[in-house]
Amino acid sequence: MTNEIDVVRVENSRINEVDFDNVEFGREFSDHMFSCDFIDGEWQTPKILPYQALSLDPSARVFHYGQAVFEGMKAFKDDHNDVWLFRPEDNFNRINISAARLAIPEFPKSYFFNGLETLLKLDASWVKKGSGNALYIRPFVIATEPAISAAPANEYKFMIICSPVKAYYKGKISVLIAEKFSRSADGGVGFAKAAGNYAAQFYPTNLANKKGFQQIIWTDASTHEYLEEAGTMNIFFRVNNTLITAPTSDRILDGITRKCVIQLAKDNEINIEVRRISVREIKDAAKNGSLKEIFGAGTAAVISPISAFEHAEEVFELPDIENSYASFFKNKLMDIQYNKAVDQHDWRYKV
Ligand SMILES: Cc1ncc(COP(=O)(O)O)c(C=O)c1O
Repeated sequence: MTNEIDVVRVENSRINEVDFDNVEFGREFSDHMFSCDFIDGEWQTPKILPYQALSLDPSARVFHYGQAVFEGMKAFKDDHNDVWLFRPEDNFNRINISAARLAIPEFPKSYFFNGLETLLKLDASWVKKGSGNALYIRPFVIATEPAISAAPANEYKFMIICSPVKAYYKGKISVLIAEKFSRSADGGVGFAKAAGNYAAQFYPTNLANKKGFQQIIWTDASTHEYLEEAGTMNIFFRVNNTLITAPTSDRILDGITRKCVIQLAKDNEINIEVRRISVREIKDAAKNGSLKEIFGAGTAAVISPISAFEHAEEVFELPDIENSYASFFKNKLMDIQYNKAVDQHDWRYKV
């Protein structure tokens, strides 16, 4: 095993073809990609190649049994043109936690960091300066072995691709609280970033979209009484001046942004409770005026305020408030990410 990387550079960069001011999330990709194959029980020599299509056998197991996991992270550029990652070790650990649950072999840490840094140095000009601009990084693993018996593969591909993104202004989000469908269940794969978790959300989310809601807040599968998380975000509720979020479990993704918000709340003497939250509690708080804010937290959207929710055909609106916790945490986080504030917890990682 060697973590030396074979690098093939592009002959001509595509960077001038990209309208960075108007990129749509996840549509454009940087010049290079990282790729490493698992064959004969070993990860082979990693490669960095020009971004290109893959050629896979139609029987590759990923197409039939969904053996696929991924990560989502971002690189930021500060005012001095230095490029920073944010808590990348957490993403590395989480992709291997996800992989283990899907019977995918663990990826070596030195391969991950060496690959990521080499890739980002090559494509550094794709990370644009300015608040909200970032290079979204998508590491993923797929089962490539050509065989359609229902069994874990003996061959895999670990890849990293990068996509320039802008601030994720989606306007106001209104959400539906799940009453029938579930995202995950006890003993299942909800805690993993498994591709199939997302596919399973699309149909109920389409139904919610038709009713005018952008997202669903998932509830526990057995009773639908407890609030868990949204499609790609963990969820926080502010009741009076207390922030509440659900504990992680085997049904909920252990979000890195969530962990940051919990830590920043503690650092700034904001009362934070990590505990089960019932739908009833939040509806009562909305009725008596003590529910001040709901927001989602995740890498793509950073912090996303929720302005309305529906449950059992009852709609609750949350008017804008001054000095919202959502904007407080968003500013705090982004200042650390863009190297504008002291990084008390060593979250930044210089490339
Ligand atoms: C299901 C789910 N929950 C929460 C999150 C937020 O996690 P993070 O803050 O690590 O991006 C994500 C996105 O990664 C997600 O897909």
